[in-house]
Amino acid sequence: MTGDCFNLSTPELAAETAIALRADKLVCLVEGRGVLDGKGGIHTELEPSQGRAILASRRRLATDVRLHLEAALRAVEGGVARAHLVDRRADGALLRELFTRDGIGTLVTDELYEGVRPARLDDVPSLLRILEPLEAQGILVHRPREVLETDIERFLVVERDGLVLGCAALYGFPEERVGELACLGVHPEHREHGRGEVLLRAIERRAKDEGLERLFVLTTQSVHWFVERGFTPASPAELPEGRGGYDRRRRSKVLFKAL
Ligand SMILES: CC(C)(COP(=O)(O)OP(=O)(O)OC[C@H]1O[C@@H](n2cnc3c(N)ncnc32)[C@H](O)[C@@H]1OP(=O)(O)O)[C@@H](O)C(=O)NCCC(=O)NCCS
Repeated sequence: MTGDCFNLSTPELAAETAIALRADKLVCLVEGRGVLDGKGGIHTELEPSQGRAILASRRRLATDVRLHLEAALRAVEGGVARAHLVDRRADGALLRELFTRDGIGTLVTDELYEGVRPARLDDVPSLLRILEPLEAQGILVHRPREVLETDIERFLVVERDGLVLGCAALYGFPEERVGELACLGVHPEHREHGRGEVLLRAIERRAKDEGLERLFVLTTQSVHWFVERGFTPASPAELPEGRGGYDRRRRSKVLFKAL
């Protein structure tokens, strides 16, 4: 103790305390909904690099949100796994942020897309290993090797220790500002560890980055999985024209999600 006075802001103090405690989570109650995206929407998730880019940009942020975003980034960069910015005035905000999948505020973390990367041509055999059994069961539409090779840039994979465990693809229809999530599959031995969700979030982010506003998926078996993640059933008539129709024999359900 030196007897010196220090002028510390609450967010700074909270971030340093969370780091010193090796906390898993820092929750900041802020004046506002969270980090807004400039179009009235909210960034529900940010990686540290995205958060830094927003602070460095000319985007106008409410002072309180800016201070807390800086603290959240400091905490995450200092080893705290997750930092949340939550509206201090919203009823039940904490519960909704922590216990619903999409939350209501902004989550800052570098864990979001752990293991996810764009697919490469040499991933095609792994993609076939995941997709072919699902095609044989009628769960996914058949895509021959040549199509996977041609479309490889549309795919993301999730890998662990060099082994590809799951994949998903995004087919954009920029004129209608919608995208199709296709070929989402996780190897059966590696399901139920959040990899499907990580892939979905990564595809959603890619779609947003491409300026798309809605995502859709056609599924026969996993309607509930998508509904729990914010998709709602829609009519095949809503599919973009460029998609080339809807195969009625498959009886797929069409689901849309606003991004
Ligand atoms: C759907 C799929 C991608 C999910 O992958 P995953 O890595 O297991 O997903 P997550 O770990 O993120 O989610 C698992 C959760 O979803 C639930 N779940 C899995 N399949 C489900 C289904 N068909 N319907 C509803 N819920 C389902 C699990 O019980 C688990 O629930 P919990 O979080 O409450 O424990 C995977 O089951 C799969 O490859 N299915 C076959 C292909 C398919 O249907 N693709 C979608 C059409 S494009």
